[in-house]
Amino acid sequence: MKDKKVVVTGGLGFIGSHITEGLIEDNEVTIIDDMSTGKLENIKHLNKEKIEIIKGDMTELDLKSIFKDKDYVFHEAAMASVPQSVQDPEKCNRINITGTLKVLVAARDTDVEKVVMASSSAVYGDSQNMPLREDAPVKPMSPYAVTKATGELYCSNFTDLYGLQTAALRYFNVFGQRQDPNSQYAAAIPNFIDRILKGERPVIYGDGEQSRDFIYIKNVVDANIKVCESTKTGIFNIGHGKKTTINELVSIINEVMETEVEPVYEDARVGDIKHSLADVSKAKSFEFEPEDNFREELKETVRWFAGGS
Ligand SMILES: NC(=O)c1ccc[n+]([C@@H]2O[C@H](COP(=O)([O-])OP(=O)(O)OC[C@H]3O[C@@H](n4cnc5c(N)ncnc54)[C@H](O)[C@@H]3O)[C@@H](O)[C@H]2O)c1
Repeated sequence: MKDKKVVVTGGLGFIGSHITEGLIEDNEVTIIDDMSTGKLENIKHLNKEKIEIIKGDMTELDLKSIFKDKDYVFHEAAMASVPQSVQDPEKCNRINITGTLKVLVAARDTDVEKVVMASSSAVYGDSQNMPLREDAPVKPMSPYAVTKATGELYCSNFTDLYGLQTAALRYFNVFGQRQDPNSQYAAAIPNFIDRILKGERPVIYGDGEQSRDFIYIKNVVDANIKVCESTKTGIFNIGHGKKTTINELVSIINEVMETEVEPVYEDARVGDIKHSLADVSKAKSFEFEPEDNFREELKETVRWFAGGS
């Protein structure tokens, strides 16, 4: 992508800051972020002259005036936590559904060509049909998943009704630099690395034989840019198409960190799904083909958590 004007909602968050990084060299980026979980620190290494930052809640901002001369919108802003959505479903609805609808309406009414929305593998719930294909039934098990499924429906509805190009990317378990290990909702990889670096033992809930499809942040950025540049619209899984059990994950992290820390096992958490694995063949239609590099990607992630760049 080159010489485009793009908006990244949630651009100060984990994934949004990486999308901004992936675009900033050759494009102009406007970030919209209310800093609820996002931080300026996440973009401190980037050339600020090329980034416009609009601080505020996207449900309250005048999005039409922000979008008026923009080409593309990468919509990452959301309440991104399942447990938080269970505690406060109305707030989750406002941010994730009303927020997405406002983004789509403003894009429809301006020159925006395409909106790429961050969806989630959470929409599949505890579906047993592995690997998960995009046409598998949606079974939301949390308000968060309901809002992501609704956002996807609005996207395809805006494409059908108004001709606005949209794509919804169902991210699986994303990992990489700048993911927050301190949040009470932190994902397994940053949490395990952080604990091992502090000399603590990683905590596994259940027997560790549950599996996930881990996808490196740089591949997620690649998927966003490629789908945006393509003519493709619709829903796409963004995973690696490989399953890793949590026990395997701990042993690979130990190998990469050259440690031998034994995990602690605690009771399985209510509502945790057993397995999650993406069928990523549909995303190949826009040439999304992540390399098989899990150890190297984990090494880069560890290096960053250990204080490197
Ligand atoms: N991290 C993952 O593994 C994962 C998996 C599936 C889907 N997702 C989705 O990807 C997107 C990005 O997730 P993330 O992991 O980077 O989370 P994050 O919390 O780091 O980023 C979300 C960003 O949105 C901002 N934000 C929240 N509400 C806002 C509002 N009302 N107005 C403006 N900004 C607001 C936050 O401040 C933050 O910068 C989310 O939509 C999330 O649901 C993430």
